[in-house]
Amino acid sequence: MKKVLLIGADGMLGGELKDRLEQKYEVVGTTLQTLDICDKAAVLAKAKEVAPDFIINCAAYTNVDACEVNFDLANRVNGEAVANIAEAAKQNNSTLIHISTDYVFDGKLEVERAYTEDMSANPVSAYGKTKYLGEQNAAKAEKYYVLRTAWLYGLGGKNFVKTMLRISNNEKVSVVDDQHGSPTCTTTLCEIIEQIMEKEPAYGIYHSTNEGFTTWCGFTRKIYELAGIATPVISLTSQEYKEQHPESSDRPTNSKLSKEKLHSVGIYPAKWEDALANYLKEELKN
Ligand SMILES: NC(=O)c1ccc[n+]([C@@H]2O[C@H](COP(=O)([O-])OP(=O)(O)OC[C@H]3O[C@@H](n4cnc5c(N)ncnc54)[C@H](OP(=O)(O)O)[C@@H]3O)[C@@H](O)[C@H]2O)c1
Repeated sequence: MKKVLLIGADGMLGGELKDRLEQKYEVVGTTLQTLDICDKAAVLAKAKEVAPDFIINCAAYTNVDACEVNFDLANRVNGEAVANIAEAAKQNNSTLIHISTDYVFDGKLEVERAYTEDMSANPVSAYGKTKYLGEQNAAKAEKYYVLRTAWLYGLGGKNFVKTMLRISNNEKVSVVDDQHGSPTCTTTLCEIIEQIMEKEPAYGIYHSTNEGFTTWCGFTRKIYELAGIATPVISLTSQEYKEQHPESSDRPTNSKLSKEKLHSVGIYPAKWEDALANYLKEELKN
C-alpha cells in the first residue's frame, strides 16, 4: 500500500481528504499541534520517519482579510514553509501535492475569458502574494503538482455556504455580483487529488475547481434556491462592499480558472451546481 503524509489533516479540505485516502492508502496525518510546517527540522524528520510516496500539503493561513494585517506569519506559513515541504519531498523521492488559489491572479483578464495555467500570476492581495511564493517553493520539489482551487466549501469547516444559510433569516442579503469564479466543493477537490495520484500526469500546475462559473451573488441565489429559502438576494458591486467593509482585502474581479489542462489528462470535475446540491443534502440533514 502506498504511503501518504497528509499535512493539515484537520482542516476543511484535509479532514475530508484523510477520510477518503485512508480507504486506499496508508495515511499519516499531521496538524498544527503535531507538526508546524514552519519548523524545517521537524518537517524533514517527519518525512524521513514516514518515507511517503506522496506528501500532500493542505495546511495554510487561510483567513484572506487577516493576511493583510498578519502578513509576516501568513508569508511564513503559505510561502516560506512550503520550501521545507518541497525539500522533504526531494529527500524522500516523494511526490508533492500542494494546494494553491485563484488569488495568485490579479483578476483583470476580460471576464469572458478564463485563466490558463501558463498565464502570468500577479497577486493583488496579501494572501495571494503569500500563496504565490508557496507555489514557487513547491516547484523546488522535483516531482510536484500545484492544484489551484477557488471559493472552497466543505462539511468540515467554516465557509461561505454556511454563512449564507446562517444569515438567511435576515430580511434581505446583499452579495457582491461583479467577481466571477467557480464555487468548489471539497468533495470535488478530493476527487481531483485522488485522480492526480492515480494517473500521475506530467508534473506542474493544474487548475482544480468545479466546472462552470458564477458570481458570489449567483452562488448565493443558487444556495437559497436549492435550500428552499425565499430571502431576497441583492446585488452589490465590489466597490459598494469595500465602502461597507474598508478592512477587507481586494479580491480579483475575474477568478475564472480554465479546466482545459485537467480535461487533457482525463479529469472532469462535477458542475458547481451539482456539487452544491449534493453538499446541501448533507449539510441540511443536521
Ligand atoms: N477556503 C477557501 O476558500 C480556499 C480557496 C482557495 C484555496 N484554498 C486553499 O486550499 C487549502 C485548504 O484550505 P482549507 O479551507 O481546508 O483550510 P483550513 O480549513 O483553514 O485548514 C488549514 C489548516 O492548516 C493549519 N495550519 C495553519 N498554520 C499551520 C502551520 N504553521 N503548520 C501546520 N498547520 C498549519 C490550520 O490549523 P489551525 O486551524 O489550528 O490554524 C488548519 O487546520 C489551503 O491551501 C488554502 O490556501 C482555500
